[in-house]
Amino acid sequence: MSMAAGLAQRLARFPRLGLATLPTSLEPMPRLSAHLGGPSLWVKREDLCGRGLGGNKLRKLDLVLHEAVQQGADTLVSGGVVQSNSQRQVAAAAAQLGLACHLAVYHGRVAPQGPAYATSGNALLNRLFGATLHDVPWTGDRNGAIAALVETLRAEGRRPFLVPYGVSSPLGAVGYASCAVEIAGQCAAQGFAPAAVVFCSGSGATQAGLAVAGAACLPGTDIVGIDIDAEPDRVRADVARYATGAAALLGLPFDPRTLEVVAGHAGPAYGVPHKATLEALRLAARQEALVLDPVYSAKGLAGLIALLLAGRWRADQHVVFIHTGGAPSLFAHEGVA
Ligand SMILES: Cc1ncc(COP(=O)(O)O)c(C=O)c1O
Repeated sequence: MSMAAGLAQRLARFPRLGLATLPTSLEPMPRLSAHLGGPSLWVKREDLCGRGLGGNKLRKLDLVLHEAVQQGADTLVSGGVVQSNSQRQVAAAAAQLGLACHLAVYHGRVAPQGPAYATSGNALLNRLFGATLHDVPWTGDRNGAIAALVETLRAEGRRPFLVPYGVSSPLGAVGYASCAVEIAGQCAAQGFAPAAVVFCSGSGATQAGLAVAGAACLPGTDIVGIDIDAEPDRVRADVARYATGAAALLGLPFDPRTLEVVAGHAGPAYGVPHKATLEALRLAARQEALVLDPVYSAKGLAGLIALLLAGRWRADQHVVFIHTGGAPSLFAHEGVA
């Protein structure tokens, strides 16, 4: 049996809820490729993977929330910054599953990016999906207020289930591993193996899942995470932790020394778009009608473009960019277009 088939079989042992509509499509980006004069660029549409306006958390939630349902939880509890895509996807999943949702909304990690920041985009959608929002100060401890909220709700007699910040955990990484299996199969069907798969990396389980699965089903393909948190060491450490845990759950080998987290493309801080972010955002829209966001995916593409312009790939190679979602937050960032 091939490594890819073996991996798919291991992944199939993990029960999922079916929240993510899979496989997501892999689409060519001919105009952007020609504009940049580099390798053939492809986009993996993880932004189009299910309800609640999609995004990369749905693959993770598919497995993580199966545990919630198994445990008989009646309330999902998570958190994130005001414009977090992760908590919006948790709120949407709760609505879809008929569960209550309480979110710790962190204030202070990101300076509000304009008047719409607190009311539009993901903040609006969280309310639309019926989540109860709890405003808390950002302390740097990503899961602290979420855990405290779980305890409060338990004391009130609820059956809460903690969904970690960014849905990042070893099980969340196992959930994301299926994306690499799809990319391997879709690229093979097109007759190539990609030189690299590039995407933005934040709380870490997306890259962890891709790295563990990529070692098995995309040997020879670089799995390249672009740090968008302006914390490359923290991102690398979290990716390594979740990847090691995911590899253990899957019974696969994994060497954390193979991880690639690229620094220098996050701009001045998490959540703050800079010149290269805005250029990538506009380029994707104008060359490919692809709607990115100024916090995550546009910084990821900005990183890919910088690597491409530095000569990392030959013109006859293929590079896959993962659109991890996030476009809803665009509407909370006035002035990007
Ligand atoms: C749109 C988008 N892309 C990428 C990421 C990063 O994924 P991860 O947190 O798994 O590293 C996030 C996570 O918050 C996100 O919302």
